[in-house]
Amino acid sequence: MKIAVTSASGKLGASIVKHLIKEIGKDNVIGIARTPEKATHLGIEIRKGDYNNRQEFNNALQGVNAVLLVSGMDTPEKRIEQHRNVIEAAKHNSLKKIVYTSIIGAEENNAFSPIVQTNRQTEIDVKNAGLDWVIGRNSIYIEPDLDYIDTYVREGEIRNCAEEGKCTYTSREELGYAYTKMLVEDKHNGHTYNLAGEGITQSQLADFINKVYNTSLVYNSVSIEEYKKERTAALGDFMGTIIAGIYEGIGNGAYDVPSDYIKATGRPHISPMAMIKNYYNNKN
Ligand SMILES: NC(=O)c1ccc[n+]([C@@H]2O[C@H](COP(=O)([O-])OP(=O)(O)OC[C@H]3O[C@@H](n4cnc5c(N)ncnc54)[C@H](OP(=O)(O)O)[C@@H]3O)[C@@H](O)[C@H]2O)c1
Repeated sequence: MKIAVTSASGKLGASIVKHLIKEIGKDNVIGIARTPEKATHLGIEIRKGDYNNRQEFNNALQGVNAVLLVSGMDTPEKRIEQHRNVIEAAKHNSLKKIVYTSIIGAEENNAFSPIVQTNRQTEIDVKNAGLDWVIGRNSIYIEPDLDYIDTYVREGEIRNCAEEGKCTYTSREELGYAYTKMLVEDKHNGHTYNLAGEGITQSQLADFINKVYNTSLVYNSVSIEEYKKERTAALGDFMGTIIAGIYEGIGNGAYDVPSDYIKATGRPHISPMAMIKNYYNNKN
């Protein structure tokens, strides 16, 4: 059983590769990367694959039984066709199975919705490919939030427009474990799973961070418009709008959904506190 993972140079792809190696051994895992040299540290065979290039995926998926398609990072208009390049190449090579990393979120009414819609279209494309399939809808990773710790500490607060909305944070580590099970166990075929942890508010997130980091952060809410203005100024129009849309979605309850993590893995998702402690221990 040879399993390939796309975007292996990225953090989610690398986590899935790491867990897959433990499960099926490094000789059976192939990393596919747009920039292969950024994935050589994984210690497995790496093949070239840019989502814009169907031919590269036709080559990269030769001799492969199953592929894990990590959703792309491009603008919504481009993503659907990029994902189709991988799906078509999987069909061309008669793969048995495709597993796709989709996302939880509101399909309408916020600035992140166009991205969620492209994920939903790829879900349909994956289901229609004629292969065995499994779809994971990822909740929000906690790590990018924790990457902001220094800023939070400097400003003394976590500030966004999520208000009292609960976010079922997950982590790339938990997702790597889940996708490995979804790839190797046939019982998941034909299922769509919400891969999500326990729901917490931003105030609870601040409290948990305070306990682990010995900080005194508070949560302050700002309006959606104000937050969008602030994020686009800091991150540019594309990424700023996405981030503002995500927090607007959290505020509206779009990420407060029942989790299928146990169905996918056979074990509970770890707690938000444990994820924060793991992040802290890995950095210190
Ligand atoms: N749920 C969440 O909270 C959340 C947060 C962030 C992102 N995401 C989604 O999850 C995905 C993976 O996240 P991550 O944390 O692994 O992101 P990451 O560490 O930033 O990695 C992004 C990956 O996408 C690859 N990539 C970008 N454009 C590509 C293309 N045209 N063809 C092939 N590969 C391409 C990059 O390749 P290079 O090394 O060549 O640049 C890199 O491997 C993202 O792409 C995004 O769709 C979800």
